[in-house]
Amino acid sequence: MCAPTCRHRESASGFRVTQDELKAAVAREAVKHAVEDAVIGVGTGSTVNFFIDALASMKDRIRGAVSSSERTAERLRGHGIAVLDLSDIDEIPVYVDGADEVDGGFAMIKGGGGALTREKIVAAVSRKFVCIVDASKQVQILGRFALPVEVIPMARRHVAKELARLGGSPKLREGFVTDNGNLILDVSGLSIIDPVALEERINNIVGVVTNGLFARRGADVVIVASAAGIRTLTRP
Ligand code: A5P
Repeated sequence: MCAPTCRHRESASGFRVTQDELKAAVAREAVKHAVEDAVIGVGTGSTVNFFIDALASMKDRIRGAVSSSERTAERLRGHGIAVLDLSDIDEIPVYVDGADEVDGGFAMIKGGGGALTREKIVAAVSRKFVCIVDASKQVQILGRFALPVEVIPMARRHVAKELARLGGSPKLREGFVTDNGNLILDVSGLSIIDPVALEERINNIVGVVTNGLFARRGADVVIVASAAGIRTLTRP
């Protein structure tokens, strides 16, 4: 038996599984949601990297992908999957992405990888959002993970003050610039009882590009991998 902090989990059959194995398992499950002959939206992060690798097995059966970051685009192209411009696409049937936290109402905190704005844009034009996580990301109340907020550089001080007025402790993500040329403030200490209201409140601060609360447009399907197996939860 490992110590409680160890990255292995005991599976139902008694085998230990690593967090990476859980991510790979949930990624393989998500490929079943890809629609043949259609465009797929692809998020960003370590779980999504497993998804891209799994998606490669059906690359000849999809039209291509819309990417939420330069990193994801590079990995998609590396597998020979066409990366399409969102401006040329009318509608995306399915968007697959990870999350830093997801609650029981399918609201999420995202942006640990700093790609939150493009992720939110691709999610907004997608009919179905499939969120893929390992069980460590499931929470009752969002907010233990510091909320990423993308900020126009010259507004950094103003936005930080406003976030502090909301009860948060903003911290600049050192040495990080988003794909859009902006900064990230990671905000800890927020009480996220009403994710939709807080998402709107923060987005109304002048200088905020967007924040990592995905509550107004939450997930439609959450696929969770744990040592006990894969569970697919669908929004009622
Ligand atoms: C990227 O900006 C994020 O929104 C990621 O989707 C999220 O942080 C989950 O990433 P991991 O799969 O690496 O935990």
